[in-house]
Amino acid sequence: MPHDEPNRIIHADNLAVLPTLPDGRFTLVYLDPPFNTGRAQARQSTRHVRLSDAATGDQPAADDSRPGSSAITGFAGKRYERIRGDLLRYDDRFDDYWAFLEPRLAEAWRLLADDGTLYLHLDYREAHYAKVLLDALFGRACFLNELIWAYDYGAKAKRKWPTKHDTILVYVKNPATYWFDSTAVDREPYMAPGLVTPEKAELGKLPTDVWWHTIVSPTGREKTGYPTQKPEGILRRIVQASTREGDWVLDFFAGSGTTGAVAATLGRRFVLVDENPEAIAVMRGRFTDVAGVVFDDGVSQS
Ligand SMILES: C[S@@+](CC[C@H](N)C(=O)[O-])C[C@H]1O[C@@H](n2cnc3c(N)ncnc32)[C@H](O)[C@@H]1O
Repeated sequence: MPHDEPNRIIHADNLAVLPTLPDGRFTLVYLDPPFNTGRAQARQSTRHVRLSDAATGDQPAADDSRPGSSAITGFAGKRYERIRGDLLRYDDRFDDYWAFLEPRLAEAWRLLADDGTLYLHLDYREAHYAKVLLDALFGRACFLNELIWAYDYGAKAKRKWPTKHDTILVYVKNPATYWFDSTAVDREPYMAPGLVTPEKAELGKLPTDVWWHTIVSPTGREKTGYPTQKPEGILRRIVQASTREGDWVLDFFAGSGTTGAVAATLGRRFVLVDENPEAIAVMRGRFTDVAGVVFDDGVSQS
């Protein structure tokens, strides 16, 4: 995929299309997979995938690992298979979910550029298991952040603390070379502006790893009608910090196309994939006015 390729929106099962994309193309992979609802996902793989195998196509060797990296050896010196086996025996509901995600995450790792970053958007039911497995899969040294997106809307539980946040796990391909530019991120108001100088208050502060942000307003400009649509403000920070203009961004659980909409606004290029025809229909509407977008059926918009 040369750098002058158009932005692409592909209607397919992502696992079928990802192997057709070139190694190391993407500076950012943002994934917002369907949450684990308890329904068993179709198993795509029974083999214990390790990233070194996914990247090279090699069979696992007893002691292989990527040069200069601890990616395959998990924490406490355990290997990925061992951690995976222990964890998934503990919760077979998560086993189904991980069997769905694992081969896709292996592809995400292959597709990331050496300075690239993965953002995996999860909810509280998956985040902790996924963190342990990603530490083992990517390497603990590649873990960058756990972002908390906090919001406040809808009904509130009375018998426990109402759960009003999502978790976004952030992993880099290479801890020595990843791209992160905090100066490119929109700043936010100080909570107590009276405690800082007027100049600082005027400038605003850098966001931390806890992001208070409203959901997509049911009456707002952004709303596409797609049920799981994420706010552009969340994606905007991610794209600003972890990519430069002209970089390629991938979202293969694209839904309404929020990642692509933000990428286009910020001058990044993108590939979006979704298997749901309704998602594709929503994206056709959303990208009508965006130049240089090609849908996988060959219909070019611009
Ligand atoms: C939570 S939604 C993503 C919402 C998106 N972030 C947005 O802002 O609109 C997850 C999406 O993954 C898609 N999906 C689920 N399994 C898929 C698969 N195997 N291949 C491609 N897309 C898939 C669903 O159709 C759904 O649109």
